[in-house]
Amino acid sequence: MRIIGTGSALPEKVVTNDMLAGFLDTSDSWITSRTGIYTRHLLSKETLGELAITAAQAAIESSGLEPSDIDYLICSNVANSYVSPSLGSIILAPLGCSCPCFDLNGACAGFLYSLDIADAFFKTKRAKHILIVAAEEPSRFCNWHERETSVLFGDGAGAVVLSDEEGFLDFRVTADTHTDVLYYKRSLETTPYDRVEEKTMPLVMQGREVFKLAVRACIKDVDMILEKNNMTGSDIDLFLLHQANLRIIDSIREHLDQPKEKFPTNLQKYGNTSSASIPILMDELSRAGELKDGSTLMLSAFGGGFVTGAAITKWTKIEYKQEENQ
Ligand code: COA
Repeated sequence: MRIIGTGSALPEKVVTNDMLAGFLDTSDSWITSRTGIYTRHLLSKETLGELAITAAQAAIESSGLEPSDIDYLICSNVANSYVSPSLGSIILAPLGCSCPCFDLNGACAGFLYSLDIADAFFKTKRAKHILIVAAEEPSRFCNWHERETSVLFGDGAGAVVLSDEEGFLDFRVTADTHTDVLYYKRSLETTPYDRVEEKTMPLVMQGREVFKLAVRACIKDVDMILEKNNMTGSDIDLFLLHQANLRIIDSIREHLDQPKEKFPTNLQKYGNTSSASIPILMDELSRAGELKDGSTLMLSAFGGGFVTGAAITKWTKIEYKQEENQ
């Protein structure tokens, strides 16, 4: 399969580190030195559904297809206000699509998991065009009195349209049970038979543990997928890694012994937007002309679970309408 259209959308509200230091015991220097993050965009006026629609519309428009050409919509989302209906169902009709859809929770690796599923649909001839929309509001999982988690995340949506053509070379997705290091727990209703008092628990994270798991897992994925395809890091033109922490990206880059220019980042502006981070980065780079025709990209992400995903794709240049570039 091949990516033939990209789109992204960020909330209007930009929150700086200094703004956070106004009500949290933190500082711009701590956040930038430990994470690389300067600002993040947080939902205030918009809904997540609106962001998802904007990103998806841009992706469909740049693909040259009509919404009615989409055969399947996969929506990558960890959580939003609705448990049911799915976010996919919410955005389907406003997009003008009338295809099956479902939400996929692959945590921050959800975009890679969605690509893997889409690939299977193409291989079994279930679809000719698939829309993946990764839309996330991790800021809504955090306890905003806790500096450990709330400074790390931002909201956003990224989307791609895929078609049944040559492009992706390989995938690797993994999962393991490490539920204690990173979780967000929602309460359900009690029943007459089960009166266990449940409480919503804002995001709990053991930062150092997650950091180590992330670096180890990403390195393993990238090494294994390269080896399987008889490639080395030098065969990859750009590494589009999950935008969680600049130090995580640097550790992976150092292991691969590849130049900094091959690791584009935007976490400085957006923080960690969960599964939306890679498609947002991809859309920005593609629209800026940074993804060259025929170049080879490595995608790699990790997230709560613990889940990971990596993929290698050849890039085919996407033509955006003039006004879209401005
Ligand atoms: N501002 C100021 N100080 C903070 C802080 C903040 N926002 N958050 C934590 N601290 C403090 C800690 O309380 C600790 O203080 P202590 O030494 O007095 O105990 C100190 O800073 C160091 O904390 P530590 O956790 O060791 O920092 P770190 O270098 O590991 O960086 C993270 C913390 C969270 C930035 C880092 O571990 C990380 O990025 N982990 C991965 C998180 C991630 O990617 N999650 C999403 C996965 S999809």
